Amino acid sequence: MNVVVVGAGTMGSGIAYSSAASGHIVTVVEQDQKLLDQGMRRVDDYVERNLSRGHINKEQASKIHSNVKGTVDFAKACHNADLVVEAVFEDPRIKEQVFATLDKVCPKNTILASNTSSISISKIASATKRPQHVLGLHFFNPVPTMKLVELIKGERTSPDAVKAATTFVETLGKTVVQSADKTGFIVNRALMPFINESVKLLEENVATRDDIDKAFLLGTNHPMGPLQLADFIGIDVVLSTLKVLEAEFGQTFTPTPILEQMVKEGKLGRKTKKGFYDY
Ligand SMILES: NC(=O)c1ccc[n+]([C@@H]2O[C@H](COP(=O)([O-])OP(=O)(O)OC[C@H]3O[C@@H](n4cnc5c(N)ncnc54)[C@H](O)[C@@H]3O)[C@@H](O)[C@H]2O)c1
Repeated sequence: MNVVVVGAGTMGSGIAYSSAASGHIVTVVEQDQKLLDQGMRRVDDYVERNLSRGHINKEQASKIHSNVKGTVDFAKACHNADLVVEAVFEDPRIKEQVFATLDKVCPKNTILASNTSSISISKIASATKRPQHVLGLHFFNPVPTMKLVELIKGERTSPDAVKAATTFVETLGKTVVQSADKTGFIVNRALMPFINESVKLLEENVATRDDIDKAFLLGTNHPMGPLQLADFIGIDVVLSTLKVLEAEFGQTFTPTPILEQMVKEGKLGRKTKKGFYDY
């Protein structure tokens, strides 16, 4: 398939790598040449990492390199696209602009997917004249490792678009679960309050950090405890996701004060080497 990835940040670079590694022809689009160079370096880093870990060999690495190109020219990138995956900033205004542009420059049957975590797919689709070809493909970070993609149907998404997008995801060796177009979809809707409650257990001195994590490692066979997981996701991401859910569904999702405090102190988890744990 000819796949276009718009935005080569954390998620876009992973989606580009995974698509190219599965044999798709990928064009990455960024806002300017500097950001494009940075994004292409992220894709290269995935190639190097997977090569050094023995997940791919040299021949596969050079095939992946030859499968991915970058450009800042939307029209050039999209002229023969079968599928576009948008992974730009989580801002409805920017996403709607991007989709309006994509609608103009892509062939009329191109499927347009958004990696949004919280913005309504129907709203994004309404920026185009092809809402039947618009859907959500919500990948998880880091994309090359994580096997799940949530597929979100908008009000007017067609069964054919769902089928084509599902087939694409399966070519990446990943599995689709379908969710209605409701804030948080499946995973974040249930995971974020779980993490929040786990932090409350710590705040209320019900249990220690290590015992909370151990409880879920051993009591429910989770591979990682909730506080470890919060550090992995990023405390800032957990906080902002809870706020989005709170705005939609009310105080069940109100973030506990510790999370606000940690973000103020720059304790964002693994990425700042300090969170519930030190790294
Ligand atoms: N980071 C995560 O863990 C995660 C997980 C699932 C979904 N998401 C979603 O994925 C999307 C991207 O998140 P991210 O963490 O990769 O963000 P990021 O900030 O790392 O990357 C966004 C990229 O989009 C580019 N961009 C912005 N506007 C653009 C435009 N008009 N044209 C081309 N490129 C443009 C930026 O230059 C930047 O490189 C968001 O919608 C986010 O909610 C993120």
